[in-house]
Amino acid sequence: MAPISTPATLLKRARRVAVLTGAGISAESGIPTFRDALSGYWARFRAEDLATPEAFERDPELVWRWYRERRHRLRDAEPNPGHRALVTLSDKVPQLTLITQNVDGLHARAGSTGVVELHGNLTRVRCFDAGHLAPEFPDTEAVPRCARCGSLLRPDVVWFGELLPQAALHRALEAARRADVFLSVGTSNLVEPAASLRWIAAERGAAVLVINPTMDGQRRGPGVHHLAGPASRILPELLSEAWPTD
Ligand code: OAD
Repeated sequence: MAPISTPATLLKRARRVAVLTGAGISAESGIPTFRDALSGYWARFRAEDLATPEAFERDPELVWRWYRERRHRLRDAEPNPGHRALVTLSDKVPQLTLITQNVDGLHARAGSTGVVELHGNLTRVRCFDAGHLAPEFPDTEAVPRCARCGSLLRPDVVWFGELLPQAALHRALEAARRADVFLSVGTSNLVEPAASLRWIAAERGAAVLVINPTMDGQRRGPGVHHLAGPASRILPELLSEAWPTD
């Protein structure tokens, strides 16, 4: 039997698992990350121009076009083996909470249920002034208006300087506090409050497994195990090691 400290054994013995995913898990579905030095969105665009309420007030057309293009890119994207492995994992452990910073909806499309979306969802729109949700995403070039109050529609994502959806944040904090194992997958862990979740879990004794090709820019800390490589390969491997006979 593998020693207790191996990540697969920790996972197999866990009763409560919290998973936090970031853009890296969708990278192999063809969706750019944010901070990759060459292809990341924030290497090519300025977040202040596109992902703040002030940017939308200044130039709503520009912001709308950028999100519309990202949404178009999503139509061609499919969940990859990393997303699918997390669906399988939720059947293996007694309790799993899947928390994501991604707005691409690929976890749900892979079959995950009850996903905690910390940063909203790119496929939804709400109005800028009152937050009325629109029934569908209007695929128009011009910024559409809310059918209820006439204010401009914006993507239902969290922008810099905005509060996270409080119910989602509450669920994420609860899951981190109660976890035996905290899995951080494909995130640079640079954006708060998501970045602190792994330390909240670790403080209460959880093992932290980080799945990422690199630990560049990330603090290791005690009880942190780094599994180096792409999520689409490491997650399925981790599951087959933990449950070899399946
Ligand atoms: P980042 O772009 O900051 O980080 C992506 C991480 O994925 C990096 O650590 C990469 O090393 C890793 N990565 C790349 N390819 C991978 C692969 N195939 N498998 C696993 N990991 C891989 O993205 P996030 O951490 O998600 O917020 O960024 C957090 C937030 O910052 C986003 O939700 C977004 C952004 O600004 C908002 O828009 C509010």
